[in-house]
Amino acid sequence: MSQLLYEGKAKKMFTTDEPNVLRVVYKNDATAFNGQKKAQFEGKGRLNNAICTKIFKMLQEKGIPTHYIDTISDTEQLVKAVSIVPIEVVVRNVVAGSLSKRLGVDEGETLSRTIVEFYYKSDELGDPMINSDHALAMDIATKEELKEIRRLALSINESLQAFFAEANILLVDFKIEFGKLKETGAIVLADEISPDSCRLWDKETHEKLDKDVFRRNIADLPETYEKLLKRLEDVK
Ligand code: TMP
Ligand code: ASP
Repeated sequence: MSQLLYEGKAKKMFTTDEPNVLRVVYKNDATAFNGQKKAQFEGKGRLNNAICTKIFKMLQEKGIPTHYIDTISDTEQLVKAVSIVPIEVVVRNVVAGSLSKRLGVDEGETLSRTIVEFYYKSDELGDPMINSDHALAMDIATKEELKEIRRLALSINESLQAFFAEANILLVDFKIEFGKLKETGAIVLADEISPDSCRLWDKETHEKLDKDVFRRNIADLPETYEKLLKRLEDVK
């Protein structure tokens, strides 16, 4: 018996026969600006599943704990059940997007050190930015959990930067989420890492290979994701 547990903007989660295992289905929907802009793209679910699978396998090989178990079809993965920590963690290496707007710095400027930002995960509130004090005072996470989240986020950044560099791609920034394993409470990388949740630019031309092509009406989304997947094919 498989029951729909949750439907998000880009994925659906189903129960499986195993209590601590869920099935994720990647949808063809694309949204931006907290769901205000919407479209459907044939093949998007397949492309994100393939790209995310490659990334999660790479991270697991590097010893990063993740919720990923297996990829079971073009659009489906099995993952460990977690309780999601309601913090969206954004890691930035290069100025872009909301950071550029907020601080008035040009997109493309390399930061002298990596920035980790926390956003409180709430569609209603539009995911407001918070700091560790907010997270602690509102019992969103403990001090130890925040420390582990930050450590893992920086470690994931290093692995991802090296991975994309092999395809001559610059990792500008990305958003990740963490969950607590049902059995042990251990913090693991959950949700997805895909061109929906990263900014990826060609190292030389700065051509965009991510969802900004949809957010900003720059290019066709499936063609862009297909191009990215091709470039990642030869990366170990
Ligand atoms: P931002 O510059 O708009 O704050 O986005 C930073 C990074 O986080 C960028 O790679 C896109 C990603 N992101 C998401 O995955 N989901 C979101 O809801 C937002 C706002 C950003
Ligand atoms: N994922 C968010 C949304 O769908 C925002 C974004 O990625 O731009 O609204």
